[in-house]
Amino acid sequence: MTKTVFILNGPNLNLLGQRQPEIYGRDTLADVEATCSEVAAAFGLTVRLLQSNWEGQIIDWIHEARHEAAGIVINPGAFTHTSVAILDALNTFEGPVLEVHISNVHRRESFRHHSYVSLRADGVIAGFGVEGYALATRRMGSLLGA
Ligand code: DQA
Repeated sequence: MTKTVFILNGPNLNLLGQRQPEIYGRDTLADVEATCSEVAAAFGLTVRLLQSNWEGQIIDWIHEARHEAAGIVINPGAFTHTSVAILDALNTFEGPVLEVHISNVHRRESFRHHSYVSLRADGVIAGFGVEGYALATRRMGSLLGA
């Protein structure tokens, strides 16, 4: 059976491509999904890309991932810096978790330097633009032995 990787995205990432393009670039989440699907297919993996502006919805998807996904790639957006609840949810997931940030959060405001999700993540990518999602998907391929 094909393993599935959930690619979860937090608030405001639905506006990717339109939102502060000087920071986040012009590619959309649909572009990210297309690229990651291609990368995943090379490893025999399937991706399911999801986005919500609601913290509880992201938590529900992490719970769903416990039964339906082999790994999670997550860009929690601003919830990265605030959400103990998303950290707690990720701590219930047994597979690999990779954290992605499009921008280099360490070069930005100090409130972006701390990530609750990094306390659980097996790897973190920041500042590689949307290419970070493809790199994380490739890494998932290695981690899941696909
Ligand atoms: C982000 C960085 C966060 O600080 C910010 O709140 C986002 C996007 C990134 O991908 O660079 O929404 O996670």
